[in-house]
Amino acid sequence: MMVAIGSDHGGVNIREEIKKLMDEMGIEYKDFGCECGTSVDYPDYALPVAEKVASGEFDKGILICGTGIGMSIAANKVNGIRCALVHDVFSAKATREHNDSNILAMGERVIGPGLAREIAKVWLTTDYEGGRHERRVGKISEYESKR
Ligand code: RB5
Repeated sequence: MMVAIGSDHGGVNIREEIKKLMDEMGIEYKDFGCECGTSVDYPDYALPVAEKVASGEFDKGILICGTGIGMSIAANKVNGIRCALVHDVFSAKATREHNDSNILAMGERVIGPGLAREIAKVWLTTDYEGGRHERRVGKISEYESKR
């Protein structure tokens, strides 16, 4: 599995924590920034990561900003992206099983690094269930294909 990870200035600490986690788990990743000591704009990181996942170059993406909201809004503009904004472990599992989410967004001003690690660990290791969920996810893809 190859993961694209990025954050704005509001998500640097959790980004570093999740990189450590992926090192421990033996998961390959590429860090898309930011290289920031100053304020940057979250779409500049969300959109490149989302494009890389949508193109298939990366299997999954992880995006962190202050709330996770800006990252998730921007990433979900890219066709083929199902970005889930998650701040609890239950939803991390459910969104992989039910939505086949391909990007995880989190907010560093909302949760701490310990919970972010647990969320990412579950999200990275949970498989999509398919079955009845195929029809639902398929309806989203079908809508996107007509735009
Ligand atoms: C940056 O101040 C902040 O707006 C950003 O990190 C994020 O929370 C946006 O949704």
